[in-house]
Amino acid sequence: MPGIVIVGAQWGDEGKGKLVDLMAEQADGVIRYQGGNNAGHTIVHGETVYKFHLIPSGILYSGKPCMIGNGVVIDPVVLIGELDGLKARGIDLGGLKISANAHLIMPYHLMLDTAGEQRLGKLHIGTTRRGIGPAYMDKAARLGIRVQDLLDEKILKKKIAAALAPKKAQLRAWEKDPALDLQSMTEEYLAYGNRIEQYITDTAKLVHTHLTKGDTIIFEGAQGAMLDIDHGTYPFVTSSNPIAGAACVGAGVGPTAIDEVWGVAKAYATRVGQGPFPTELDDEFGEALRQAGGEFGTTTGRPRRTGWMDLVALRYASRINGFTNLVITKLDVLTGQGDLQVCTGYRTDSGAELDDWPYHQSVVHHLNPVYTTLPGWDDDLTKVRSKEQLPQAARDYLDFIGEQVGVKVSLVGVGPARDQIIEL
Ligand code: IMP
Repeated sequence: MPGIVIVGAQWGDEGKGKLVDLMAEQADGVIRYQGGNNAGHTIVHGETVYKFHLIPSGILYSGKPCMIGNGVVIDPVVLIGELDGLKARGIDLGGLKISANAHLIMPYHLMLDTAGEQRLGKLHIGTTRRGIGPAYMDKAARLGIRVQDLLDEKILKKKIAAALAPKKAQLRAWEKDPALDLQSMTEEYLAYGNRIEQYITDTAKLVHTHLTKGDTIIFEGAQGAMLDIDHGTYPFVTSSNPIAGAACVGAGVGPTAIDEVWGVAKAYATRVGQGPFPTELDDEFGEALRQAGGEFGTTTGRPRRTGWMDLVALRYASRINGFTNLVITKLDVLTGQGDLQVCTGYRTDSGAELDDWPYHQSVVHHLNPVYTTLPGWDDDLTKVRSKEQLPQAARDYLDFIGEQVGVKVSLVGVGPARDQIIEL
C-alpha cells in the first residue's frame, strides 16, 4: 500500500505542484496535509496554465480523489473562488473531498495577521497575510472553527460569538471598530457551508480505505522544510509543519502508511519573506537569477530572494524528512550562468567550520557559506528529455548534489511543462 509524501526541501516554491500533478496521474488519490492558501502551485497542461492555492494539484484528473486533509487551514472564500474558476474551465470536481475536521480561516484571522506584522515593525516575518498564523493559533487554543461547523447554524454562531469578543479586543489597537458582526459573519459562512457541503467528508477514513486496498496515495506538502515551525528558521517560518512527518497528522494515517518521501529542491535556492538565507545573492547576479527563473511569488507576487544551492540545508532537510528520492527542478535556469557555486559547508563569524545546520539562531543568522565551484554549461536544456542528452557539466552537477545529500536524484525539471521532466 504505497503512501508517497512529496515535500519541499528548501524554503518553499520548489515546484512540488508540478511533481504532484505528474505523479497524481498514476496514483489513486492525492491529499494535502498542511498549510493553506499561503501556498501556490502553477500547473501547465498543454496551453492552459492553472494556479491553485488550496486545491491539490491532482484535481485535473477527472474524478480522482483529491482531498484537503484535516491539517490544512481553509479560507472558504479562496476555496470557492478556485472551485468556480475550475468549473468555468469545465473541470470535473467530482473527486474533491474536504476534511470535516480542517480548520477555517475567518475574516479576523486576516486582520490579525496584518496587525501582527505591523506590530513587529522591522522584525516582521514577511507573512503572506492570508491569516495562516492566527488560524493555527486558534486551532491550538481550541477556539478554532472547523469545516463541520459550517453545517450547523447553532454551533457556528456560538463558536463565532466565542471567538469574536477576544478578537475585537486584540484588534482594537489597530482599528477602533473592526468590522466584525456576528450575524452577518454567521450568514456568510453558512452560505459557504452550503456551497461546499457536497465535498465534506472524513478524509482520513477515505485515505485509509484506499491504502488498505493497495492503492497509491500522494501526500502533498506545502511550503518547505526550512519554513517548518519546529525545524525551520524560527520565528521566520510558517505556522505549520511542512515536513514529511506531518503528513501522518495532517491526513490522519500512521507512520507505517508512508513508504516513500520525495524531497523537491530547485537547482538553486529561493526564499520569500524575512529570515536567514545563508547563500543569498543580494546582487546583480541574484537579480539575473530572479529574472531567469521568473522568481516572483505565485500567491503575493513578491520578488523572491535568490541564492546558490545550499547543500548543508538540503542535507538537513533530508535528515528531518527522511528523503528516499530527490527531485531537482529548474535546472534549465542555470544555463549560461557561468561557473556554479554550491554551498558545502559554513564558516561562523568566529571561524568555526560547520558541515551541518546549527541549532542556535544566533549562529544561523551569521553563517558564511563555504562554496565548491562546479563548471556551468551554456546548452539550452528545455528540450532535453533524457539523462544522456544533458551536457556533462549538468550531469556532474546533479551527481554532486546526490552524493553530498546521500540520496539519489530521481527526476530533474527543465521547464514548466509536464513533459519537461527527465527521469534519471
Ligand atoms: P505565512 O505562512 O503566511 O504565515 O508566512 C510565513 C513565512 O512563510 C513567510 O516568510 C512567507 O513568505 C513564507 N511562506 C508561506 N507560504 C509559502 C509558500 O508557499 N512558499 C514560500 N514561502 C511561503
